Amino acid sequence: MIARVNDEAKLSVLDALFDGAASDLRDGHWAHAEHRVHHGSPDRFGALFDVARIADVQSLVRRHVGNITGSLRAPDGTVRDLHHLTADDALHLYDCGATLHVDTIHGHDLDAGAFGAAGAYGLGAMCGALARELGLAPDLLRTVAFAARRPGPGSPVHADNKDIFVVHVGGAKKWTIGPNRDVDRAVDNVWPWSPKGPTGLRRSARPAIDVELRPGSVLFLPRGHWHATEVTGEDCVALTIGFERPPWARVVATALYNILLESGDFREPIGSAWGDAAQRAEVERRAEAVRAALLQRIAELPPSALIDMAFAETAPTYERVRTTRVILHRDGDARWIAEILSPLCRSELEVDEPEVHRMLTWIASRDAPFSAADLGGAADVRDASAVAGLLEELTALGVVDRAPILGRRRSAFFG
Ligand SMILES: [Fe+2]
Repeated sequence: MIARVNDEAKLSVLDALFDGAASDLRDGHWAHAEHRVHHGSPDRFGALFDVARIADVQSLVRRHVGNITGSLRAPDGTVRDLHHLTADDALHLYDCGATLHVDTIHGHDLDAGAFGAAGAYGLGAMCGALARELGLAPDLLRTVAFAARRPGPGSPVHADNKDIFVVHVGGAKKWTIGPNRDVDRAVDNVWPWSPKGPTGLRRSARPAIDVELRPGSVLFLPRGHWHATEVTGEDCVALTIGFERPPWARVVATALYNILLESGDFREPIGSAWGDAAQRAEVERRAEAVRAALLQRIAELPPSALIDMAFAETAPTYERVRTTRVILHRDGDARWIAEILSPLCRSELEVDEPEVHRMLTWIASRDAPFSAADLGGAADVRDASAVAGLLEELTALGVVDRAPILGRRRSAFFG
């Protein structure tokens, strides 16, 4: 029932993967959905990506430009990972029973569209379309191709920090899955069988549902669910598309870091917090002022800033253009004219709001780079959009230039 397509707008990736039986996932309920398995014809994957290029382990490994990890299981059940393998080492380990994790393979699309058969999405575009259907940023997506062969034993019980879609393209693998009642909303991967893992869970984590995936099968497994796998067919290859959804704690902390970096008060070094008692007392006094400023800043924030600023990557800052002069003339009781004189041109800006007057006056005397928050704070203007609008206009008029960033922002993307 899934037609091959030439235009991504015509194809739902979820419909293609689940033969049209996953509209609830697309409608936004996927985040609380249970696991689901669908067995269909492997031919439908051809509308999405070049299956043969992933199913051929030799070719997949030899062409890969990113990390390849080999996982080996010791007789006592513990698993050791060897990272950054060369293609030769990876293939030798594969022959000896290691499971290979070929990481971030959707990046292959960037080199010569290697995974896109004619008329299909290609792997990268497919993943981007899937992210849009699920309402997620494409940057939160990670694709890993897993390759294993008998006597490779598969993976011991563990839980991942991602919601995953497993698209099975070769061989056969038994998955034992089940909800996780041992760890409440773990933020990180839970690997009881890794050398430093929570060994206390090795015996208690007992997923109970067996599912065999074969070519054409798709499994959706929510984040945190226990699962273990066993290779049941030769040359078992599957594509896993994982979506990492950052916890609120990380989103809010990252957003606040980025927002506070815009203010000189919060870029100030902490001081001698590890010094003597007097130095420590001084830092604590400063911390009290910082806390008050923090609470005020948080109270002013629109809720959307806590999301948007978590994913912002550059903090624009500005500096006054020294060769441009701004002269303010009063024009009536409540109005001013800002005369802007640059070596190339002269222009005028009507100023009928006292806030704009204060901002222009502050910029005219400013010698160091500044952020929008610095300007708003100095001119006592709370409306961030008014500050941003003026800076945009002044940049176009050559009064200010964008300056090197004052603080490096973080991104909530991880994994
Ligand atoms: Fe896993």
